[in-house]
Amino acid sequence: MPPKNTILIIGASRGLGLALTEAFCQRGWHVIATTRAPSAALDEVAQRFPASLEAERVDLAEATSVQALRERLSGRSLDMLFVNAGIAKSITATASTAPQQDFLDMMLVNALGPMRLIELFEPVVAPHGTIAAMSSELGSITQNSGAWDLYASTKAALNMLMKCFAARRPHDGRAMLVVAPGWIRTDMGGDEATYSIEEAIPRVVDTLEKNHGRPGLRYVDRFDATLPW
Ligand SMILES: NC(=O)c1ccc[n+]([C@@H]2O[C@H](COP(=O)([O-])OP(=O)(O)OC[C@H]3O[C@@H](n4cnc5c(N)ncnc54)[C@H](OP(=O)(O)O)[C@@H]3O)[C@@H](O)[C@H]2O)c1
Repeated sequence: MPPKNTILIIGASRGLGLALTEAFCQRGWHVIATTRAPSAALDEVAQRFPASLEAERVDLAEATSVQALRERLSGRSLDMLFVNAGIAKSITATASTAPQQDFLDMMLVNALGPMRLIELFEPVVAPHGTIAAMSSELGSITQNSGAWDLYASTKAALNMLMKCFAARRPHDGRAMLVVAPGWIRTDMGGDEATYSIEEAIPRVVDTLEKNHGRPGLRYVDRFDATLPW
């Protein structure tokens, strides 16, 4: 049997990250899945896939926590790194009405934190592997018609940071992806969102697997359609 591909998924306690973890286990990957705190939901997946799932701990907002995870995983090789974690605050507010700290928190968790982790983990991602982060359709400056202003800005910042990261590595053999999953019913997406996790996540995983081994930066939706930056 060929060795399993390994994926590191950041932010797997619930919602899309938990579903991604289960889906990659089902598709025969070895999954290292991180949470900030014990997660009964992730434990339940681990019981069903004991040979495939490794639980780890990291808080994306804490540089020391990210560095500690990096040290624990030194010597490992990742085929795919997927930073899923994200937060949304003050979603109906604007720059003048939102608490300033909400915007700063989102910038840290949605933009700076993911890129800091990606830069630190880059050396352990295989030369033809994949480096990906969960963005959003709302992060498209071209397409956003005025929704979730502050959250959207932090996803646009994430997209820009990935673009700069990729531009500095023009000959890199890895796929670099910012992925927009659609509006999905999770704690963040809310009950009014268009799609269920079950509808959306298999398509996200299809897109990740399809792009795996295809060098270059792409901003794609769950159907692998290219989105305008
Ligand atoms: N749902 C949607 O409609 C939608 C649409 C577009 C994009 N997205 C993006 O998809 C990703 C997942 O969203 P979701 O809907 O699954 O949200 P969710 O249900 O709120 O889950 C968010 C996940 O991120 C983790 N997280 C938050 N802060 C973290 C930190 N500082 N360090 C590490 N992990 C942290 C959470 O862990 P804890 O349990 O410890 O809080 C949780 O696992 C996010 O990046 C989000 O922006 C979602």
